[in-house]
Amino acid sequence: MIFTEKQIKLKDGRTAALKSPCVEDAQKMLNFIKKACGETNFLLRYPEEWNISVEQEEAWVKRIRTSPDTLGITCYVDGQVAGNCEISFMGGIKTSHRASVAIALLKDYWNLGIGSAMFEELIAAAKARGTEIMELEFIEGNDRARHLYEKYGFKVVSEKPNAFKLKDGTYLKEFYMQKYL
Ligand SMILES: CC(C)(COP(=O)(O)OP(=O)(O)OC[C@H]1O[C@@H](n2cnc3c(N)ncnc32)[C@H](O)[C@@H]1OP(=O)(O)O)[C@@H](O)C(=O)NCCC(=O)NCCS
Repeated sequence: MIFTEKQIKLKDGRTAALKSPCVEDAQKMLNFIKKACGETNFLLRYPEEWNISVEQEEAWVKRIRTSPDTLGITCYVDGQVAGNCEISFMGGIKTSHRASVAIALLKDYWNLGIGSAMFEELIAAAKARGTEIMELEFIEGNDRARHLYEKYGFKVVSEKPNAFKLKDGTYLKEFYMQKYL
């Protein structure tokens, strides 16, 4: 799906663009996710686990743009990729009432209101689609993410103990949240 470009005002006064990821920015997208994964333990992978080629990343961007069941929104600040979010609408008779969301921003762009602007767009997209339940997961200790999700009406409905095991051996639990539209 294609997201119609939108300008947003950040808390520091800058303007950012929300738009679908561009195929020609595949390398930038890959750099972004590797960097983001090195800045927090709350994302699924370590940077070195993103050992995919630019061609594979291009294919992923093309899929995001053309799939009728996925909406990806990338935030650009001063032409640089600041973050990305996605909503995936589930298929199948038994699960098409649900959609899952994911989001990641580079540390330089945390706390500027980008996550909030993205969530407003993801919720609007889910409502337009007729989705009944939005869902997501976050890792214990990710208080900024939890605050954002609760602000937009998500509630913790279950938890998975020991879902992450960090390189230093620390186990972290994962919380699963739902928002009913
Ligand atoms: C989590 C994340 C998506 C939030 O996006 P963001 O753009 O920083 O969020 P916003 O600026 O829109 O909002 C942050 C809110 O959290 C609050 N906040 C900031 N730090 C906080 C903390 N330590 N504890 C609780 N709330 C906090 C802010 O005050 C703000 O609240 P408000 O909107 O009520 O004023 C972003 O920080 C990020 O990508 N983090 C790293 C990757 C990640 O954790 N992804 C999510 C995986 S589940």
